[in-house]
Amino acid sequence: NQSSFGMIGLGTMGSNLLQNIADHGYSCSGYDNDPKKVDTVNKLGNDNIHAFSDIKDFVQNLKSPKIVMMLVPAGKIVDSVIAELLQVMDKGDIIIDGGNSHFTDTEKRFEDLEKKGYHFVGMGVSGGEEGARKGPSMMPGGDKKAYETIKPILEKIAAHVNGAPTVAYMGERSAGHFVKMVHNGIEYALMQLISETYEFMKSGLQMDDKEIHDVFKKWNEGRLKSYLIEITRDIFAYKKKGEDHLFFNDIKDEAKAKGTGKWTSQAAMDLAVPVPMIDIAVSMRDLSKYKELRTEASKLYPDATKSDLKDKTESIEKLEQAFYFSMVSAYAQGMHLLDQANVEFKYNLNLDVIAKIWRGGCIIRSEFLEDIYAAYKNNPKLAHLFLDDSIHKSLVKSIPGIRNVVSEAVLSGIAVPTYSVALSYFDNVRSEEMPANLIQAQRDFFGSHTYELKGKEGVFHTDWEDPNH
Ligand code: 6PG
Repeated sequence: NQSSFGMIGLGTMGSNLLQNIADHGYSCSGYDNDPKKVDTVNKLGNDNIHAFSDIKDFVQNLKSPKIVMMLVPAGKIVDSVIAELLQVMDKGDIIIDGGNSHFTDTEKRFEDLEKKGYHFVGMGVSGGEEGARKGPSMMPGGDKKAYETIKPILEKIAAHVNGAPTVAYMGERSAGHFVKMVHNGIEYALMQLISETYEFMKSGLQMDDKEIHDVFKKWNEGRLKSYLIEITRDIFAYKKKGEDHLFFNDIKDEAKAKGTGKWTSQAAMDLAVPVPMIDIAVSMRDLSKYKELRTEASKLYPDATKSDLKDKTESIEKLEQAFYFSMVSAYAQGMHLLDQANVEFKYNLNLDVIAKIWRGGCIIRSEFLEDIYAAYKNNPKLAHLFLDDSIHKSLVKSIPGIRNVVSEAVLSGIAVPTYSVALSYFDNVRSEEMPANLIQAQRDFFGSHTYELKGKEGVFHTDWEDPNH
């Protein structure tokens, strides 16, 4: 009665994923150093799941080659669990890190474990607790052979879209965790975009919660259909028993973060790929924490202008266009980052496959991912989503909307940084000429940093105070 799959970390995610695997007929083992969690899992009474509080017993109960997945907090804990595992596992066994590990950590662990003769898979798992239970989206990378061994299990427990599982081998070494990190970066941008949308409707269009709910409900029936819009709709309907106001209004306006959005921006800066919507989303979460500062400043700078937004129906139509436009841009920036990282890190990524497995199970799943999937399937070498024919057509139709929303918001004193940056990013991407020549001139002026000339090879410097130079 040996198990086919072992899970370390029996928090809700780990326990739910184990139950998902067990539901598909696999016998599983679980391990946690917290006996209470072990108890909770054993009390589920699932004949296919056995939980242990001793790591040796846990590992001995696994069939060879042993497959162990860790779902523990990212960072040092992962290293200490791996060190413990190496004491009790055999060469040739498979270790999967299913947490949100930083890709550079995964890179080191992969190299180290490969040398030691173990198969390591760094795997992003998305979909939250419900996804883990009913079908997540999974982004495994690293040891390809090990992936082939675990593939049948992963394909069964994943979500399915049109019959296809939302899991696939992403690429070499740390590719899986890199892809998951970018997934989270896009997640941050979309969440910030949705909260600005809410602010625009509330403060700009003076809409009440019910009206805002109805807009999200309607949007979720059209091309903006997505998990994040869907849960926002539901948040706008959720009241505690006996209360008549929406519960989320009781929540402090200070956003927390575990770091994956910031990592995306940091990695993008290192690779010199612009992902400004993700950057701004991280910054605005940070700004939200300065409650005292904001309170003080709000007294000093009260609302200067009041909006006089006219026709609500027309405004909502424009807002829908603006949201579509910005949503396209958020995904486009994330995909661009993946494309460039692929060149730099030689991951061997397939952007169509990534879009394909993001269509279901994960937090950023959306109707629009079908279009992204089609775009990269059509042209695997597509340099940017803005260049795809069909996306180009719908993006162009949304330009009036985004220009209108951003200008109305700016004139009304409503902060829409993600919308604004989506638009400016676009306006620069579509600019053959950027004013960067002036930056080069300034750099050369104050620091002799040199510049290149149009139509002339080489690197030059000018003494800007000497016209004869
Ligand atoms: C997912 C999510 C998940 C992430 C949370 C919270 O794909 O299921 O991305 O992995 O941990 O979204 O992230 P923050 O705490 O940073 O907002």
